[in-house]
Amino acid sequence: MPFDVDRSARDESTEAWRALLGARRAARELSDGEPGLPPVGAPGRAARPAIAIPPDTLFAPLLHSDPARPFVVAQLGQSLDGRIADGLGESRYINGRRGLTHLHRLRALVDAVVIGASTAIADDPGLDVRHVEGDNPARVVIDRRGRVPPTLRLFRADGARRVVVVGAGARVAHAPGVEVLRVREDADGFAPADLVAALHAAGLRRQLIEGGAETVSRFIDAGALDRLHLIVAPVLLGDGPTGFSLKRPRRLSDCDRPPTRIYALGGDVLFDCDFSDAGSAGQRQQVEMADPQVE
Ligand SMILES: NC(=O)c1ccc[n+]([C@@H]2O[C@H](COP(=O)([O-])OP(=O)(O)OC[C@H]3O[C@@H](n4cnc5c(N)ncnc54)[C@H](OP(=O)(O)O)[C@@H]3O)[C@@H](O)[C@H]2O)c1
Repeated sequence: MPFDVDRSARDESTEAWRALLGARRAARELSDGEPGLPPVGAPGRAARPAIAIPPDTLFAPLLHSDPARPFVVAQLGQSLDGRIADGLGESRYINGRRGLTHLHRLRALVDAVVIGASTAIADDPGLDVRHVEGDNPARVVIDRRGRVPPTLRLFRADGARRVVVVGAGARVAHAPGVEVLRVREDADGFAPADLVAALHAAGLRRQLIEGGAETVSRFIDAGALDRLHLIVAPVLLGDGPTGFSLKRPRRLSDCDRPPTRIYALGGDVLFDCDFSDAGSAGQRQQVEMADPQVE
C-alpha cells in the first residue's frame, strides 16, 4: 500500500489542477458523456483525453476511463472512530481544508454528483465547486418516495442540471427545469446498477456518489463502484452515525482488500480504493491469518 506524500503535493499544485481541467475539457469536447456515442476508436472519439496527464495521478483513473461506459466514484469523509457526522448530525467540518478542496476537485471532474434523500434533507448541501476552478456538475438526489423538499439548495437554478430520481409511483412537484428521472424499483429500492445506467443514458457518465453512508454502502454492496475515496480525519467524534454498513457478513479471513493508494491531504489521509474489474482481477488480496500453532 504505497504512501506517497510527494505525489500528493504534486497532484495538488495549481498547475497540475489546470492540466487536469484541460484534460477534462478536452474530453468533453470529444462528446464524452453523450448518450449514443460512436464506438471507441471511431473517428472523432478518443479513449484518452487529448491532453496527457501522468498515469499515476490520483485523478487519472477518472479521466482515462473508458468513454463507452459509466465511471462511478464514491467519496466519504470520516473520523478516526469511523463516524461520518457528529451526534447532532453535523458532517460539514470533519475533514480539513485540503480534504474539502479534494471533494470540490472531484465534483469539478465528474458529470454528476449524487446524494441520498437523507443527506439532502439533513445537510441542504450546495454541491458546487466554489473552492476550486472548474464547472459545477449536475446535482442528483435519490428520492424514491418524493420526500425531498423542492426548496433545497440543490434545486436552485444556477445553470447546472438538477435531477431527482424517483420511483414509479412517487409524486413530486419541482420547479420547471428540474429533471425527474423515474427508475424501476424493487422492494429494496433502486438497484445501484439501474441508477448508474439511467444517469448514463441521461448523458451523465462520470458519477460521484457523495453520500451518505447508506447510499454509498448500497453501491459497495452491489459492486457498482469503480473507486472509493475515503478521507479519514484525525478527530474522535465518539458519537454520531457510522460510515459503511455492508450487508454481507464477513469473516476477517474472507474480507476483500481492494488495491489501495494512500495520499496525505494535510492532516487528513485519503484512501483511494480500486473496486474496478481491473483492480479486482488478480490483485484483490486475501487476509493471511496467523496460525496460533506455529506461533
Ligand atoms: N462525512 C461525509 O462525507 C458525509 C457525506 C454525506 C452525508 N453525510 C451525513 O450522512 C447522514 C445521512 O446519511 P444516511 O446514510 O442516513 O442517508 P443517505 O445515504 O444520505 O440517504 C439514504 C436515503 O436515500 C434514498 N436512497 C439511497 N439509495 C437508494 C437506493 N439505492 N434505492 C432507493 N432509495 C435510496 C433512500 O431514501 P428513502 O428513505 O426516502 O427511501 C434512503 O433512505 C447525514 O448526517 C449527513 O450529514 C456525511
